[in-house]
Amino acid sequence: MEVASRPIRVQSIAQNGTAPQVPPEYIQPPETRPKNPTARPANNNPIPSIDLSSAVRDADFLRTEIGAACRDWGAFHVTNHGVPPKLLDEIRRLGRTFFEACPMDEKLRYSCDASGAATEGYGSRMLVASNDTVLDWRDYFDHHTLPVSRRDPSRWPQFPPDYREVVVEYSDHMKGLAQKLLGLISESLGLPSSCIEEAVGEFYQNISINYYPPCPQPDLTLGLQAHSDMGAITLLIQDDVGGLQIFKDDEWITVDPLSDAMFVILSDQTEIISNGKYRSAEHRAITNGSRARLSISTFHDPAKTKAISPALEPPKYHTAIYGDYVLSWYSNGPEGKRNIDALLI
Ligand code: OGA
Ligand code: NI
Repeated sequence: MEVASRPIRVQSIAQNGTAPQVPPEYIQPPETRPKNPTARPANNNPIPSIDLSSAVRDADFLRTEIGAACRDWGAFHVTNHGVPPKLLDEIRRLGRTFFEACPMDEKLRYSCDASGAATEGYGSRMLVASNDTVLDWRDYFDHHTLPVSRRDPSRWPQFPPDYREVVVEYSDHMKGLAQKLLGLISESLGLPSSCIEEAVGEFYQNISINYYPPCPQPDLTLGLQAHSDMGAITLLIQDDVGGLQIFKDDEWITVDPLSDAMFVILSDQTEIISNGKYRSAEHRAITNGSRARLSISTFHDPAKTKAISPALEPPKYHTAIYGDYVLSWYSNGPEGKRNIDALLI
């Protein structure tokens, strides 16, 4: 149980060398345990990778590729996306420094408010209300980055000294790339380029740096339980450790790390706006016994007051106020895609 004065972080449990077993609250029931967490298909990763520079060469081809990836996978890599590879390395370096070079007492000064969902700061629990769900083998630092009025760098770590500056620069690049991708995704549906972005409205952007400590029992745990992201579009980068998986055709497929690429995850509101032509990707993270893993997810969501409905007729989803959707997601738990499926007409 977390207590405000001394919340428990997964990293502290992992560093307690006398614990070769994970505490019972992290043990998944048999049906959600990863099968063969260490087995990785070598060099035959089927997840689409799309070169965005081909826009210059053949825009129609690019839209067709994006459409197929959104329809078949709901997730894909993009390369030549225009975000400097150096910036990707810098934000990974900041994350590593915060989690690995900063003493626990210092990190805990940034603890998020454990009584509310998705509050800014250093935390471990995705679902706040429920005490009965299995816990994820993950710590994170969540930054509220857009709109600019939500951005308060004084709440972010100040070490290394360029931490706040890099997060701001990364946030701005992610916004630009999310806009570009939503434009291409709209066009791939035969809609005007601005359609999805207008349906989403001003972006509420959060950047989560996820840290998955090595786990003594990777076959019994999950770094992050199966879910789809609730907003419009998520842009994710990871380090070379690997552990992100996508559920497709009744199988969990590991997303091989591609260091300079950006991994795009379609989220639930884009599924609704596309009227189910595109599906949000169900995904999870597995753990491993030897190396800590870092990933950075940048979420782009509508305002809580925004009503989201399909842009195509006849609608296959009920209109939902985004804030209500978020509340039900956090109070029911994700359990794969059950929240979005509940909106199907
Ligand atoms: C997330 C997420 C996966 C990962 O942050 O929503 O799905 O690999 N992360 O960290
Ligand atoms: Ni996710």
